Amino acid sequence: MKFFLDTAKVEEVESLLDTGMVDGVTTNPSLIAKSGGDMLETIGRIASLVEGPVSAECVSEDYDSMLREGELLSGLAKNVAVKVPLTVAGLRVCRTLSDRGVMVNVTLCFSVVQALLAGKAGASFISPFVGRLDDVGGDGMNLVEEILEVYDHYGMETEVLVASVRHPHHVAEAARMGADVVTIPPDILYKLYGHPLTDKGLEAFLSDWRKTGQSIGGKA
Ligand code: E4P
Repeated sequence: MKFFLDTAKVEEVESLLDTGMVDGVTTNPSLIAKSGGDMLETIGRIASLVEGPVSAECVSEDYDSMLREGELLSGLAKNVAVKVPLTVAGLRVCRTLSDRGVMVNVTLCFSVVQALLAGKAGASFISPFVGRLDDVGGDGMNLVEEILEVYDHYGMETEVLVASVRHPHHVAEAARMGADVVTIPPDILYKLYGHPLTDKGLEAFLSDWRKTGQSIGGKA
């Protein structure tokens, strides 16, 4: 399962790179606004740091303008995935760019039929927003399960990218279901490492070790 980092902050990408857990990055207009950086410069910098796909979202709503933005964004680097909303124009742009070999991430997916449309439009990634669906009383992970089932029926190659992740349990469920990718905010990625019994066990081991007065390979 691939882990993408859900952030537009270059320093967050830099600080997590050497964990070996970052297979790509996703951004959206809100994350760009939060980062305070210039969008094109930010995407260019992140795409040079990370080998995998870096999603950069179009902000126009009509086909021609969205396509122009997509061309500009995909021209920044080979690993940029153009993000388009799940609208009629968005999926038209998806088809056009996919036919040219550009990766497209279709975002703001909230139903299985929307995901089916994105698959038919040749999307590289479909992004179901699980947290936002949970927020309004829906079941985000059930949607992921439905999409995986439908894509499997038709052998669709679009990768299911679980987005709007709110807690480690979303990541665990996505992995159990066999989702292709999960995009994780940095604070949640750190939480994946944690377990109180790991902390407790480590404390006990190190306390016992100190009592031996030994060190491994010389001075500690
Ligand atoms: C990433 O591709 C999405 O834009 C992001 O995960 C949305 O997360 P949010 O619902 O927490 O804003």
